[in-house]
This record gives sequence, structure tokens and C-alpha cells, in this order.
Amino acid sequence: MASKKRVLSGMRATGKLHLGHLVGALENWVKLQEQYQCFFFVADWHALTTDYADTRGIPENTIQMVTDWLAAGLDPQKSVLFLQSRILEHAELHLLFSMITPLGWLERVPSYKEQREQIRDKDLGTYGFLGYPVLQAADILIYRAHYVPVGEDQAPHVELTREVARRFNTTYSKVFPEPDVLLTPTPKLPGLDGRKMSKSYGNTIELGDAPEAIRQKVSTMLTDPQRVRRSDPGRPEICPVFGFHRRYSPAEVVAQVDADCRTAGIGCVDCKALMAAHLITALAPIQERRRAYESKPQQVWEILVEGSKKAQRSARATMRQVRKAMGMVYPAAAGPAGRAGKRPQRKQAPVTETPTVTPQ
Ligand code: TRP
Ligand code: SF4
Repeated sequence: MASKKRVLSGMRATGKLHLGHLVGALENWVKLQEQYQCFFFVADWHALTTDYADTRGIPENTIQMVTDWLAAGLDPQKSVLFLQSRILEHAELHLLFSMITPLGWLERVPSYKEQREQIRDKDLGTYGFLGYPVLQAADILIYRAHYVPVGEDQAPHVELTREVARRFNTTYSKVFPEPDVLLTPTPKLPGLDGRKMSKSYGNTIELGDAPEAIRQKVSTMLTDPQRVRRSDPGRPEICPVFGFHRRYSPAEVVAQVDADCRTAGIGCVDCKALMAAHLITALAPIQERRRAYESKPQQVWEILVEGSKKAQRSARATMRQVRKAMGMVYPAAAGPAGRAGKRPQRKQAPVTETPTVTPQ
């Protein structure tokens, strides 16, 4: 059997996930794990590039996010789920790549320029922030991934990764395949206020929101602003509530709502309640899995630890090739060259079975 192509993607440790993450990434990851050898990881070091001063939330955000991954259907039997900072080899490769990456490449990355201009409340004038895409290149190339499923905003980072791979391969020798981006189609699901669903806009529905919270949030959703009175006909095509119907309600309901909205046959309050009911039904299996994992956070950590061991085996194999390609291989200390200079080992104190504490 031909070995499967490798897929790798990661998310910054941001905490609980919302429907935008589900539709924009997780549903796609869950499908990919059936076909490819998948590696998915929590980018906790990347979280530091913008928030180095406030690290308190990172472990909790990590566990919440991975709980949502598992709830959404990522299966640790099929995919390797791991934590970036447990694989120190990412840091080594990042360092080596930093030697061959021209500054101009990094200064031209669109997200770098935009965020430097737009984000004023954080210190982005650091070496780490500029090097964000180099760390990302190391994340991807250390597993010699063929495909990187990400949203459009991340495509320039994958492009830079290809350039770093090419530069390494031509400077030393060919170690890395050039990964292709697998663009996740931009989600049609808007936030509660009609803008893109995003934690920073406060317009999200979280995967773990209780049915009551979902009903309440849906009741606040923006609708067609032209429907001022109940008797005004509406335009479903511009209404965020209808966007949710299309995704979560059965086809007959979608057709009925479409028709009734245009003739003012249904009011927005009822239309929202109907949508919330279908959304709650669709999320039920995810929520059930979430509750099961929530009650066993230890098990979620174990999944990450086990996944990290597997990931590390792959990462170490790549690093051996990298060091060899760069000519950075030294005689082992215990080998013939090292032996002469080796200091004699100090005798270790014998380990006693029971601690010898004598009560006075
Ligand atoms: N930069 C990505 C984001 O913000 C997260 C990430 C880090 C990533 N390393 C990666 C994504 C490697 C794909 C591959 O979403
Ligand atoms: Fe939107 Fe439904 Fe109101 Fe039409 S009836 S405007 S689709 S909420």
C-alpha cells in the first residue's frame, strides 16, 4: 500500500471554539483524517508571539480547544494531536531556518504589515513576532507535510514555507517537499451581527453553549433591517438567520422559510426559534462528546501527550536529515573520537528502597 500523504495544520491556543472554527476548519480536518496521515497541533508558542506578557491562560486555552477538537470528531486513533511546545525540535528547526530566511521575505508578509499597523494595544515590535512565519515553516516542514489545510489568511505563510523549503534544499540538499495549501472555502456562516464570526467581535456561538444560551443568542441575531414591522416582506438572501437555516435546517424547512419570509408569512421571532431548534439538534452529538471529555480533562492531556510522542518521532527523523544535510554531524561523545576526552563517570550513590528518615 502506498503510504498516505501527510497533512498538517495547527491553531493558536485561543480557548473554546465557536461555529466559525467548526465550519471554517474542524469539519474539514475531520474529513481529511479519513484520507491522509494527519497531524494537528496546538500552536502555543505562536500564541506568545503576540501575547508574551500574559501567558496565564495558555494551558487552560489548550485543554479547552483540544476538548472541542475531540468533540467535533477528531479521532486520536486516526490523527496525531499534539502540543507544539512539547516538541523542542520545532525550536531547533526554527533557529536553523532563521539563518537562511532573508528579512525582506518576512517584512513583506501581509499579516505582518497589517497587524503592525492595526494592533496598537500589544507590543509587536519583537523578533519573535517578525519570525512568526519562520516558526510556522518549521512546524510544517519538520513533518514533511504535503498539504496544509488553512484559511485564505494563512496562504502567504504557506507560500513563505515553500520558499524556505526551496532555499534549504538548494543551499544544502533536498530534505523537504514543498507543501501545498489546501484552501478551506471561506465559511458562509456569519456571526450573530452579520459580520464574520469572531471572538473579538463578541458575536459567536460556542460549540459548548447550552441549548438555552443558543436560543438566547439566536434571538438577538440581526435580520433583514428592512423588516421593521411583522407585515414587511423580508429578503432571506441578506439575512444571517437564513444563512444558518441553509446550513442546519432540512431542505424543506429552508424552502418554506425562504418563501414565507418573502411574503411576510413568518415573523422573525418564529423564524429564529425554528432555526435555533435545528441548530441545537445538529450540535447535539458534538455537545455530547464535549461533555464526556469535559468530565475527564486528564484523558485529554493524555491524548496530547501520546500524540506528542508520535509527532516527536517524526520530527527527530527529519532533524537527523537536516543536520546531516547541513554538515552538522559530530562524532558521538561515546564513540572512538569522543572517548579519549571523556571524563570518568562519577559513581552514583546506590538507590535505597525506602527513604532513610530516622525519627528523633
Ligand atoms: N498561524 C496559524 C493561525 O494563526 C497557526 C499555525 C501555526 C499553523 N503553525 C501552523 C497553521 C502550521 C498551519 C500550519 O491560524
Ligand atoms: Fe431573516 Fe427569517 Fe426574519 Fe426572514 S423571517 S428576515 S429569514 S429572520
